[in-house]
Order: sequence, then C-alpha cells, then structure tokens
Amino acid sequence: MPAGESFYITTPIYYPSDVPHIGHGYTTVAVDTLARWHRQAGDDSWMLTGTDEHGQKMLRAAAANGVTPQEWVDKLVNESWFPLLETLDVANDDFIRTTQERHEKNVQVFFQRLYDAGYIYAGEYEALYCVGCEEFKPDSEIVDGTGPFEGLKVCAIHSKPLELLQEKNYFFKLSEFQDRLLELYKNEPDFVRPTSARNEVVSFVSQGLKDLSISRSTFDWGITVPWDESHVIYVWVDALLNYATAVGYGADEEQFARRWPGYHVVGKDILRFHAVIWPAMLMAAGLDVPKGVFAHGWLLVGGEKMSKSKLTGIAPTEITDVFGSDAYRYYFLSAIAFGQDGSFSWEDLSARYQAELANGFGNLASRTIAMVEKYFDGAVPSPGSYTEADLAIQKVVSDAAKAADAAVEQFRLSDAIDAIWTIVDALNGYITENEPWALAREESQRERLGTVLYTCAEGLRALAVLLSPVMPQSTGKLWSALGVTASLGGLQEQPLREAGNWGVLPVGTQVGALEPLFPRVEQTV
Ligand code: ME8
Ligand code: MG
Repeated sequence: MPAGESFYITTPIYYPSDVPHIGHGYTTVAVDTLARWHRQAGDDSWMLTGTDEHGQKMLRAAAANGVTPQEWVDKLVNESWFPLLETLDVANDDFIRTTQERHEKNVQVFFQRLYDAGYIYAGEYEALYCVGCEEFKPDSEIVDGTGPFEGLKVCAIHSKPLELLQEKNYFFKLSEFQDRLLELYKNEPDFVRPTSARNEVVSFVSQGLKDLSISRSTFDWGITVPWDESHVIYVWVDALLNYATAVGYGADEEQFARRWPGYHVVGKDILRFHAVIWPAMLMAAGLDVPKGVFAHGWLLVGGEKMSKSKLTGIAPTEITDVFGSDAYRYYFLSAIAFGQDGSFSWEDLSARYQAELANGFGNLASRTIAMVEKYFDGAVPSPGSYTEADLAIQKVVSDAAKAADAAVEQFRLSDAIDAIWTIVDALNGYITENEPWALAREESQRERLGTVLYTCAEGLRALAVLLSPVMPQSTGKLWSALGVTASLGGLQEQPLREAGNWGVLPVGTQVGALEPLFPRVEQTV
C-alpha cells in the first residue's frame, strides 16, 4: 500500500468477566505486530483494543462475586486487562471500554438513526440463548447435552445448557441485507480472510438471513434503547459499535473520516458477527463497511478450543515470566499459520526458543558483535570488494524484506517471519563458511575479514529493523549494541520498507556489549 495511507486495525473487545488467557494474548500481539509494522512503514496507523463490559455474562459474574457489574469490570480491567498490554509489550493507540460515555452516548445515536431509517421494529421472540456466546443459537449450533446436562439442549461451543427466552424485543431487519452482503463478498474477495472463513460466511448468508433480536428487557446492565427505557441494547450490537465510537463516530467527524473504515482481526468464533451482522448494520446506517475482517484460528488444548469457561486457560504471564514477552510474541506468530488452528505445548515453545531464538538469532547477534569487538576494537570495519558469497547475502536481505512486507500486507504473519528468518539462516551459514576466526589469524586476510564482518553487522542491522514489530525488546537491545542510535536514529524510526537496502550501517560505528538476547531458561516447564 502507498505510504501514509490510513491503517486502522482492531482486536475484538474482550469480556472482562474473567482474567485473560493466552488466546486473548494471541489476537492482541498479532494485531500489535501488524500495527507496529505499518506504523514503522510510515502509514497512518492506529491500533484499538478494549473491553466489552455489558450483558448477562458480566451481570452473572459480578453477582457470583457479590459486587455490582461496574465494580466487577473496573476491578478486572484495572488488575488484569490493562496489565496484559504491558506483559505482552503492546503499543496500542487507544483502549475502549463500552461503559465509557464516549461509547454509550454514540451507540444511542447510531441506534436512533437505524430506527429513524426504518430498520428496527418491535416483535415477539422465543428462542434458545447461550449466555457464554451472548447469542440466540441457530439450530446448527445446538447439540444434546451429556453427563450432568443429559436431556438438555447445550451450546456446541460452550457445552453448557441453553436458556429458553420469551420476550418482546426490538428487531433489526437483517434479512433485507442478504443480497447486498453476497455482492460485497463477491466484489471484494478479500473482505473476509482467509479463504476458509470467506467460504463459511458466503455459505451461511446464501442460506438466507433471519432478522436479529437487538434488545433485551429482562435485565438492565446495558445501554438503554433511546426511545424505550424498558429495553437495553443487545450486547453484541453495543460491542460491535466500539470500532466506530472509538474513532469519533457521532462526536468527532474529522477523526472518524481519518480512521474509518478499518480492519478487524478476530478469532473464528466471532466471525459471523463481524462479517455478516456488522457490515449489515453499517450499510443500514449508510456508513462504509470495514476494509476487511481477518479470522484467525483457535489455540487448542487437548484438541479443544482453549477457554476459561472450560478451565483450560493458561495465563500469558506463565509464559512471559519464564521466556519473556518477545518469545511469546515470536512463538505464537511464527509457529501457527495465521488463520489456522494451533496446539500450544510447552515442549514446542521451549524447543523453538532454544533452536530459533537462542541458537539462531541470539547467537548470530552475540558472535557478530563479539568478533567486531575482538578483531576491530569494536569499530565496524569497512568492506572491501564484494565476492559472490557477499552479494548473495545482500540479495537474501533484499528479497526477505520485500517478501516480508508483501506477507504482512496480506496478514500472513508466519510467512513474514519465515521470510525474515532466511536472513538469520543465511548469515549463520555464511559465518560457518567464511570462518572469520581463521581469516583473523592471517594479516593478508585483513580486508577480507572486514568485508565478512561488515556483511554480518549490516545484515544484523536489517534484521533488527525487520524484527522490531515482532520482538521490540530484543531488537531494541541489539540496536543499542550496534551503536547506531546517534547516526541513524531510534530503531522504531527506521523506515521498514527500506530495511532491505544495503550499506546503511556506517563504517566506523562503535559497537557496544551485548548481553545474551535469549538467555538460557533455567526453570523446567
Ligand atoms: O467474544 N484461541 O469476547 P471474548 C485463539 N466480547 N483466540 C482466542 C481463544 C483461543 N482459544 N480464546 C479467545 C468476545 N480468543 C466478545 C467480542 S468484539 C466486538 C466482541 C480470542 O472475551 C479471539 O480473538 O470471548 C476470540 O475471538 C476472542 O478472544 C473472544 O474474546
Ligand atoms: Mg468467548
């Protein structure tokens, strides 16, 4: 994409009914990496995350803990959800909470506009509701319970009994949008990604859409329907609107025009809300639909979606306390193809940490810096004439930078990291082949030694820049050790789309000491 263009990207807003687990962390670091990449490439990047605080799930969690829903969400957000962002080194631009006035007020503005435009009507409703999903379930997601729930209908995702609700509700005329949605998916094949998600959405909408119940009257923890005080707005309609209210919908036209529309990254569990209901709501209000919805896969534990409600959640700090935030970010983004399910295991994490981070990237950095210190008193040597082996490295760097940017553009994060890793592997192989320690023993090879070490150091410079959106901590340390802050500026100011250019590192730069970037992990996990 042309530099300077608006790149607005969001995570789902999570339910703070409980503490975060590594699944929430996964989506958040993926979005943060995409946002950091675009920001550093000079795009007008904006990253939003936040919390979804209304609805019955929250009401019940608060009641079970003997406090009001507001007290409950305040506690969870302050003690667990804000700290998650620090734990994972996330550089979000904004954090929205659906209990904020900037949100509540403008959700009402939107709701009223839909009503005035004739897209909302009152009706009777009776259907099976899952509080875990906060959703009336379609037949395809209702299954027979087993064990303690024998004889009951349960939710296919949560395996908990569904509740039969009978009430007067307001409805949104979702059924009117089938054709326009199908046309959207057809005209913009990238609207829903990956392809498997797109196919699922197209097939779902092709089967016809029912109108959607969008208000509730049996509890009041929500945003009041503007023209009927006895109803609150359905929590999903409230929640989806965060993407608009956070960037000024109804309040700051200029900000809204600058940011909207954006990209939504979500887990595939909530794909339909984002790829069907949300664009239909926007069409009804006469607003632009999102630029795209990307649904990633599930982290599985024992073959099932990891979740708090099934008590299979792992806290992100369990990983970062041992391996650090960079390893967390790197592991989930490189080990799982973005868009597919992945099984988390401590063994896999440990093995990759050791092989790829400690022995691969970390060791390359340490030994390059150490050799520049040892053989050239820490001053980056000047390269002599380049041989084919050196030129081959330059090409690897240039190709990797281009391939990584193209992959990020397509949200293919693991492919981007694979592309960048060709530099790590190529440089490690180059050192083995060129044996700088042997060159150092012969005075006649002094110029050759300089060329080899310049090539390694300049390759590291490119690696630091390309990996900084994925691993901000270790690349920051490497940048300091390379000693280029004074000459080139801060790491995050390095233009990402030019990272593959050769010869940027100034000859004579004084490198400094580098602690191991990925220290040996003592703890057994
Ligand atoms: O659905 N694997 O909130 P939520 C991967 N409030 N990602 C996972 C995951 C797993 N096992 N478990 C959770 C809600 N996630 C609504 C969203 S948006 C307008 C409202 C991630 O707390 C993934 O991103 O249940 C999933 O979509 C999200 O957390 C659901 O979070
Ligand atoms: Mg959920």
